[in-house]
Amino acid sequence: MLVAPSILSADFGNLADDVKAICEGGCDFVHVDVMDGHFVPNLTIGPVVVEAVAKVATKPLDIHLMVQNNSFFVDLFAPLKPEFISFHIEEEKHPHRLVQKIRGLGIRPAITLNPHTTPESIEFLLADVDMVLLMSVNPGFGGQKFIPNVVERATRLKALIEKRNPHCLIEVDGGVNDENIKALADAGVDVVVAGSFVYKHPKGVASAISLLK
Ligand code: DX5
Ligand code: ZN
Repeated sequence: MLVAPSILSADFGNLADDVKAICEGGCDFVHVDVMDGHFVPNLTIGPVVVEAVAKVATKPLDIHLMVQNNSFFVDLFAPLKPEFISFHIEEEKHPHRLVQKIRGLGIRPAITLNPHTTPESIEFLLADVDMVLLMSVNPGFGGQKFIPNVVERATRLKALIEKRNPHCLIEVDGGVNDENIKALADAGVDVVVAGSFVYKHPKGVASAISLLK
């Protein structure tokens, strides 16, 4: 299992050290939650702060956009050369065009689905994306309770991926911990995002990451 800790649960007064800690602690990606206060009822960080994160991160960035006007935000973050940029299908009229734009910028495109959105709704985009992010909470905040329907959605998505693009990864984000991760692995999930489990773990971030793995 690949692990992408979400820096949303880091101490923002100590962000550089908290980013270094997950990279040295064995994470695979640094998950960056970008919220605009419109698509979701919370506001997080923009390119100035993410540039500082990119400078100290020794693992690739996985940028999760939770915004309106996706194309504008893609342009803002593309210069930071993240590994992935994901955008919400619920907020995009022309997802295929945006996927092509992200790929054209040399970034791996990913699509995010809210808890109510069915995997079948993106079947004909799968050939062109490198990852699908299934939300297991309503986007906007760290520390929320895991919504178990994600296991069934991951199982259905895995079948579609095998048919359309076997290289596409499945990522799950929200409320992931060492108890529900086994069901996700069994359903074919490749990457988990974990914020509070990693950053609030009593034994520290490295232990939390290795527990998930
Ligand atoms: C929620 C974010 C998540 C969140 C994960 O909108 O996309 O990445 O920070 O945090 P936990 O693991 O605490 O649910
Ligand atoms: Zn996220």
